[in-house]
Amino acid sequence: MQPLRYLKKTKGGRLPDTKTFIGKTTLLDKPFVVKIMLNGDMAEKEIQVLQLFRQHPHQNVVQGVYYVKCKAVATNGSLCIPQGVDDVTFIIQEFIEGGDLTKRGKLPTTLWTSIAMQLTYSCIEFYEKFGLLYGDWHMGNILMDTTEDEYHQYVCAKSRQHFTVKTFGLRPVLTDFSRCDVYPHDDKVPWQLAYQISTVWDVLYHKCLDKDVGDYIKNKRMAMGVHDNIGAIIEMVEDVHAYLLRLKK
Ligand SMILES: Nc1ncnc2c1ncn2[C@@H]1O[C@H](COP(=O)(O)OP(=O)(O)O)[C@@H](O)[C@H]1O
Ligand SMILES: [Mg+2]
Repeated sequence: MQPLRYLKKTKGGRLPDTKTFIGKTTLLDKPFVVKIMLNGDMAEKEIQVLQLFRQHPHQNVVQGVYYVKCKAVATNGSLCIPQGVDDVTFIIQEFIEGGDLTKRGKLPTTLWTSIAMQLTYSCIEFYEKFGLLYGDWHMGNILMDTTEDEYHQYVCAKSRQHFTVKTFGLRPVLTDFSRCDVYPHDDKVPWQLAYQISTVWDVLYHKCLDKDVGDYIKNKRMAMGVHDNIGAIIEMVEDVHAYLLRLKK
């Protein structure tokens, strides 16, 4: 096997026991990402979700390529595996060139609406289809990529409702699944979904160029947080989406 050409540490990441690198090899024509985690609950969660989305690829989730658990036999300074730590998980993912949302300025309303609604409908889909609550919404975990799809479609598993979002050539891509929860089917409760959506809106209002739109979603996030049934949540999301689309900015 040909050696890695280089591994470059990313700037993000908050935990001392996780390191994320961008790598290149002569074997692949695209860069890839290697996330090295100490074995434990968080690494297990990351693997669980990587496997889930390998079976069900999603346009707003980073594609995991491979994972391996192993002993870190050699401590190599450039890999930063702490001395004495031997059980680690390597997670290999596609590299998203656009980087995370911390590196972007504020977005005009049309683009902002697309990003916000792609993530909001993703929350509904994850919850309804897999009982998955993402649980780590912040700008460092939302990567930005281009897409050739003009529209993205989302389906609510239970009600079979379809939702369409125009992409304007952009797709937000979620990474870092070490803090998510996956509930067995009947154990999840809708207020948890309302809370997720309200957190998405809370994170994103900072990124909206138009202050009035930012204030609008800030208010809606408070109202969303109190809902505790799925019908009311979806109704509110659709109302918000329709309102944002009417703003021709
Ligand atoms: N697939 C990816 N493509 C591009 N950049 C990435 C990718 N995954 C992670 N990053 C960058 O690395 C940072 C840390 O990765 P993350 O998986 O969030 O680890 P941590 O658990 O340390 O937060 C992210 O904030 C992002 O900037
Ligand atoms: Mg992160």
